[in-house]
Amino acid sequence: METVVSGIRSTGNLHLGNYYGALQNFIKMQHEYNCFFFIADLHSLTTHPTPANLHGNVKQVLIEYLAAGIDPEKATIYVQSDVPEVTELYLYLNMNAYMGELERATSFKDKVRANPENVNAGLLTYPVLMAADIIIHKATKVPVGKDQEQHLEMARTFGNRFNRLYNNDYFPEPYAFSFGESLVKIPGLDGKGKMGKSEGEGNAIFLGDTPEAIRKKVMRAVTDSGPTVENQQKPQEIQNLFDLMKVVSTPDTLAHFDELYNKMAIRYGDLKKELAEDMVLATAPIRDRINAIAADTDYLRKVAEMGADKARESASKTIREVREIIGFRKF
Ligand code: TYM
Repeated sequence: METVVSGIRSTGNLHLGNYYGALQNFIKMQHEYNCFFFIADLHSLTTHPTPANLHGNVKQVLIEYLAAGIDPEKATIYVQSDVPEVTELYLYLNMNAYMGELERATSFKDKVRANPENVNAGLLTYPVLMAADIIIHKATKVPVGKDQEQHLEMARTFGNRFNRLYNNDYFPEPYAFSFGESLVKIPGLDGKGKMGKSEGEGNAIFLGDTPEAIRKKVMRAVTDSGPTVENQQKPQEIQNLFDLMKVVSTPDTLAHFDELYNKMAIRYGDLKKELAEDMVLATAPIRDRINAIAADTDYLRKVAEMGADKARESASKTIREVREIIGFRKF
């Protein structure tokens, strides 16, 4: 059976981008593959959370994994920092990761631009840690959104480089995966780029948002003053709303509003109302389970402990073999 690995950073509540880009695939894949899904708390240290924030955010992602439908009996769910073998592999991979290629990574350049006062070494080697996460379980499929594609390419580079250096084919190549034909990019509500946690107030719809909060954010989404000719190309802020509709609404609903737009008969208020209600419906089952699961700390601890044991078993086997390949003390 092929092995699957993916993770989400513990930086706050999960949003529709995380859900449609990653989580929805996790839930489907757990039935068909040997799956490891983790909470990337080490990666979240690049922004220096307080202990209390870190603790709360890790717990929240675990709650939302379970509420969304990951079954801890089927998939291995664990917290990244519970598996120190990952950081050992990260160190080995760092020896063959070069400044130039790390500095060229799009996500690194974006972060430098956004936070020039916090360009730390952890940020630079972020893709190396991510490669370690993936190849420590010898995964071949990695369910992620479009924004992680380049990181997967780097993971292949680092794994292949290790193989070449030691003249073997120890690590298989991991590829980004989605059940759809292409990787997903969910837009935000600000009329600009992707939905994200740090893109500003109102840009993201969270899985735990109340129906009122969802309606409020959608009604405030950026639009224009309407189409001026029939069948015109949609400007980005309008295309974004249609893209969101594509994932939460029925094909009929989407076709209906598309036709109104093309005939210049669209009323954005109606489109937003429909979009908000369909988002409320799409998130309802998860929202309902979040509170129940959050109250059960014993269960959460059990899930995390069971996952840590299973993940360490797999990771420590790899580390034993890697140490042997590298040639550490034998006498
Ligand atoms: P993170 O925490 O930023 O996002 C988690 C997952 O959600 C996806 N995603 C999106 N997909 C579509 N549209 C969006 N607007 C959107 N926003 C987020 C991301 O593509 C991702 O799949 N580096 C990773 C975490 C990580 C990881 C790994 C992933 C660490 N180690 C190993 C896979 C394998 C990250 O920061 O994701």
